[in-house]
Amino acid sequence: MKVIYAKDYEELSRLTANIIISVINLTPNPVLGLATGSTPIGTYSALVDANKRGFVDFSETTTFNLDEYCGLNPSHEQSYRYFMNSHLLNHINIHKDNTFVPDGLAADMKQQARLYESLIEARGGIDLQLLGIGPNGHIGFNEPDTVFHKETHTVELTQSTIEANSRFFGSSELVPKQAVTMGMGTIMAAKRIVFISTGKAKEKITKRALFGEVTPEVPASLLQYHPNVTAICCFN
Ligand code: F6R
Repeated sequence: MKVIYAKDYEELSRLTANIIISVINLTPNPVLGLATGSTPIGTYSALVDANKRGFVDFSETTTFNLDEYCGLNPSHEQSYRYFMNSHLLNHINIHKDNTFVPDGLAADMKQQARLYESLIEARGGIDLQLLGIGPNGHIGFNEPDTVFHKETHTVELTQSTIEANSRFFGSSELVPKQAVTMGMGTIMAAKRIVFISTGKAKEKITKRALFGEVTPEVPASLLQYHPNVTAICCFN
């Protein structure tokens, strides 16, 4: 694992965007795994800027998002589809049919999860997966548990995640209690992973994930077993 300490959030975002741009420029029909949340917002804005300046072309890129809340319509302002459209996808030259976010409204979640896995496989797997980390060590919505969950699945969100994400909804009561997420196996199958973490509050859990014991109690710790991870951190 390569760990980079960025001097500030700007630098973290620029470095992350630059790695994504190189993968897009070097890979035929690149497939990106994307994350939502506050951490990647600067990266997405750097990608939009690079696309506008002609430094990167998304016309052959496919994207798969890590997760989605159950029960939220894609037009809901807090849905992850809405987030992706407004922070990145609406502003770059990507074909929208090549952008995938799990369907939080699917009637049969198990079937939808299988479909998501097979769509990823059909596109040749994920070339680069971007990850943030939750305050409890989650990646995607793989919450701390006694086991690692392999494939895309539905999860009950922990109180810690509900509270952490209540800042987007205004109140913890309004945060959906379930979500659908890529599994740890789906994430670990990505050819390359870029993990980003920012802010003093994330320092302890990030260091535990990157350098501590590998345990499903800190899902991100499994990344230590991935052969190609770049972690870009800024704890200032
Ligand atoms: C979101 C996701 C989550 C976030 C994590 C950190 O798609 O997969 O694991 O990356 O909750 O969120 P922020 O960046 O808001 O601190």
